[in-house]
Amino acid sequence: MTAERTWTRSHLLGLEELSADEILSILDTAQSLKEVSTRSIKKVPALRGKVMVNLFFEDSTRTKTSFSLAAQRLSADVIDFSVSTSSVSKGETLRDTARNIEAMGVDVIVVRHRSSGAPLLLSQCVECSVINAGDGSHEHPTQGLLDLFTIRETFEARGKKISDLHVAIVGDIANSRVARSNIHALTKLGARVTLVGPSTLVPGDMKKIHPNIAIAHDLDAVLPQVDVINMLRIQFERLTSAAFPSVREYSRFFGLTHERLKLCRPDVLVLHPGPMNRGLEINTNVADGDHSAILRQVSNGLAVRMAVLYLCVGANSVARNLA
Ligand code: CP
Repeated sequence: MTAERTWTRSHLLGLEELSADEILSILDTAQSLKEVSTRSIKKVPALRGKVMVNLFFEDSTRTKTSFSLAAQRLSADVIDFSVSTSSVSKGETLRDTARNIEAMGVDVIVVRHRSSGAPLLLSQCVECSVINAGDGSHEHPTQGLLDLFTIRETFEARGKKISDLHVAIVGDIANSRVARSNIHALTKLGARVTLVGPSTLVPGDMKKIHPNIAIAHDLDAVLPQVDVINMLRIQFERLTSAAFPSVREYSRFFGLTHERLKLCRPDVLVLHPGPMNRGLEINTNVADGDHSAILRQVSNGLAVRMAVLYLCVGANSVARNLA
């Protein structure tokens, strides 16, 4: 494994600040580590003696479980911090919570928080590694990386590079940390990106994220042009006002249905970060159909999170242990 030579960070706060080489380092490390999950004993001693804490202030199925399993596959000890039964309920601040956790000898805090910037704040007040597991509408870097890994894996097998691809990100972009991480990563690796949705959810100022992205409001016109469709969840919990007249109307214009899939290239790849609103942004027969890589995204997330933990927490000490 050579990625640790180009990786010097102890935190992963977002993909915006990473170079293309750093992103490729993570993807290549994930590729090497993916094999561990196929072994009969699914463990390497890479992070033996290290401790990871999951500090999730928002609910999660995939990310939290995936980080726990990733740490266990690397032989780290894992603590799931329960926010609801902690002293956060007595008013303890995020900073104090993290500093007290760190004082128990923790090596890495994986944090999800409703406030954009919370992981950055933590990284400034603790010595240990901090990994962003999703902060507000800012970034969800490991989701962006696992999406990229899944795209690369699919299209490399067909002889194409990420820079050859056109990716549509569809739906609630304005509120989406997944979209931001995808946009940063895909554009750094040379992909063409088009954001699609109603103007309330894809306002013109989204172009400020990156000058090369395109914005479209007619999904049917975009579908025939793209290699990948990343369908995003409508985040009802983050919508501040009615962004579309009705769920039925949204689904009619922007839901990915079996009929709409017929407009696409025959080898189009369908992604969704989950959790899905089945029947709203994506229909069941598409989500579970031949073009969908939704469960493969989840499997790849494990390898990607192993890579992130390995690089941020243990890369300098573990190369000798992996052989
Ligand atoms: N994609 C994602 O972040 O899912 P969870 O909210 O279940 O972690």
